[in-house]
Amino acid sequence: MFSWLEKNPFFFAVFLFIVVAYAGLVTVLPSFKEIARPVEGTKPYTVLETAGRHIYIKENCSGCHSQKIRPFKSETDRYGRYSVSGEYAYDRPFLWGSKRTGPDLLRVGNYRTSDWHENHMKSPASIVPGSIMPAYPHLYKKKADIETAYAEAVTVKAVFNTPYDAPGMPVLGTWEEAQERALEEAKAVVAGMKGQDVQDAINNGEILEIVALIAYMNSLK
Ligand code: HEC
Repeated sequence: MFSWLEKNPFFFAVFLFIVVAYAGLVTVLPSFKEIARPVEGTKPYTVLETAGRHIYIKENCSGCHSQKIRPFKSETDRYGRYSVSGEYAYDRPFLWGSKRTGPDLLRVGNYRTSDWHENHMKSPASIVPGSIMPAYPHLYKKKADIETAYAEAVTVKAVFNTPYDAPGMPVLGTWEEAQERALEEAKAVVAGMKGQDVQDAINNGEILEIVALIAYMNSLK
């Protein structure tokens, strides 16, 4: 039926273009709709988690870790269900990464605990023999920057309509309230940690960077 097409290079090229363009649209268009709609259960990051996310970005953890699970059995067996675009609705910027020197971290909150991270981040090789992940001892000394995280949350709420303060979503409130809430959240994380450095800091009302980073990693589910 289409043999005349094969004999006419011009119409064949036009035909091919239409087929590829149509297939492309069918693949791409649905995901635009999905991006606009966050997957159920996806919430914006709390102020403490945002502070932890800033540390993740600053330390360039994405250079070695992806946050994107592909729909292959080998991946879903290891990391959990594969990722869909609506899960990233509140990720600014995306931290998909493009290299896996270490494992994917998109759902690490499902299978690692606060005290596991605490020991691992201080000295990865002592927890996972032969690990080439660098140690991050400085995170156990510096205070987390809660103020910048709060500023970011207020900004994305105003500019992108991120649903902070909506029913069932994280509460922002005033700067004073946000500081108190971040401290409460940090205390809950520290309750699952053992180190004296972290305990002493929280008793002084200080949130160390490692605590914010672990809050962020616990939120990855
Ligand atoms: C030079 C590459 C490199 C960098 C940079 C790096 N990691 Fe890793 N990471 C690894 C490797 C390799 C492993 C696997 C061995 C291990 O568990 O230590 C790993 C393992 C992990 C694990 C355990 C995951 C699991 O499923 O067992 C976590 C959590 C983690 N990294 C978090 C981080 C965070 C947070 C940062 C940034 C502060 C970071 N990594 C930076 C290479 C890296």
